[in-house]
Amino acid sequence: MHVFRPDLFLERPSMYSGKTIVVTGGAGFAGSHLALAFKSNWPSARVIALDNLKRRGSELNITRLTSSGVEFLHGDVRNREDFITLPQLDLLVECSAEPSVLAGYDSAPDYVINSNLMGALRCLEWARRYEAPFLFLSTSRVYPVQLLNRLKLVEEETRFDLAPDQPFPGVSYEGIAEAFPLEGTRSLYGSTKLSAELFIAEYQEIYGLPAVINRCGVIAGPGQLGRVDQGILAFWIAAHVYERPLSYIGFGGQGKQLRDMLHIQDLTELVLKQVSQIDKWDGRPLNAGGGREGSVSLCELTGLCQEFTGKKIPINSVMENRPADIPLYMTDNSAMSRLYDWEPRRPVQQLVEETVRWVVDNKERLRPIFCS
Ligand SMILES: NC(=O)c1ccc[n+]([C@@H]2O[C@H](COP(=O)([O-])OP(=O)(O)OC[C@H]3O[C@@H](n4cnc5c(N)ncnc54)[C@H](O)[C@@H]3O)[C@@H](O)[C@H]2O)c1
Repeated sequence: MHVFRPDLFLERPSMYSGKTIVVTGGAGFAGSHLALAFKSNWPSARVIALDNLKRRGSELNITRLTSSGVEFLHGDVRNREDFITLPQLDLLVECSAEPSVLAGYDSAPDYVINSNLMGALRCLEWARRYEAPFLFLSTSRVYPVQLLNRLKLVEEETRFDLAPDQPFPGVSYEGIAEAFPLEGTRSLYGSTKLSAELFIAEYQEIYGLPAVINRCGVIAGPGQLGRVDQGILAFWIAAHVYERPLSYIGFGGQGKQLRDMLHIQDLTELVLKQVSQIDKWDGRPLNAGGGREGSVSLCELTGLCQEFTGKKIPINSVMENRPADIPLYMTDNSAMSRLYDWEPRRPVQQLVEETVRWVVDNKERLRPIFCS
């Protein structure tokens, strides 16, 4: 299995020495990278990855975590009992979720609501009890689908892009900023995350709990067990590696829909900066994404996959849009960049190249996950 070594700079070396950091969803894609980065940055910290292993393949990360000194706790954020064993808590990083925007569309909504919202509230309450700073991975999907679908776009040869004039505040050439309106519906997934954001604000106001909220766009990179409904970059790459057919779904069926991709290592660098500067946590939810430089359309991604895998596979066109889908999302990171002196540094080419290498190097081990 790929061993991910974040190219870390030491952030305040003694800050978490002897302290306990809990990462919920810690065996998942983002959670495992962050747990490993905390342990690498603060070797004498006790880092605990709590996960119920709901995401297929998360179990593959356990050995990698434990062999690096991260403790694995098989637990569920919905269960109070699973937190009771924690002796101490000095930082809680909540990365657990059912992260698909399609969750609840063809099945009951129970899991996405209970896990993403009630689970996040359980984590928040635990942080309050220990007076532990709380970092929450939220999503760009808090912005309403109908409004994102009313953005004015220009259609270029390989992608949709933002037109110069827009009907809403919070949109510029750089992408979507925090001033984008929030009225409307946004999927069950987006609603659970926005609801959790509101409660986090209340905990900050009432209990003075230090908290930070990252509204992440698409996160990607080695280690992501992408599915058709979540983790598109790894899913697209894996289809090329295993030579499985793909479809451009919706928006004309030409693959011009656009997303910005945040390399997991860029997110890790941001989080390390954030947890090292808790004095800067001012409670505002801030966007974090790959930005214009990290943007790619599906058909552009196909070109990169062909370049780095050397394979060309059949791609169908499906005209009908999927529920809650949008033709374009691009993050305006300006506020986050100003506050933390951070910006994503890794271009899409690097992201694709590294993710291809990870899938190829682990082809047989990952086959049951990507080919079922
Ligand atoms: N990957 C993205 O593109 C993206 C974008 C924006 C926001 N986010 C957010 O980032 C966080 C991490 O996402 P990810 O991509 O790592 O997803 P992931 O599915 O890889 O990781 C989530 C982990 O949470 C675990 N989990 C699910 N329900 C749980 C429960 N009830 N109790 C304990 N563990 C549980 C899963 O087993 C999984 O290991 C999520 O909150 C997600 O909403 C992800």
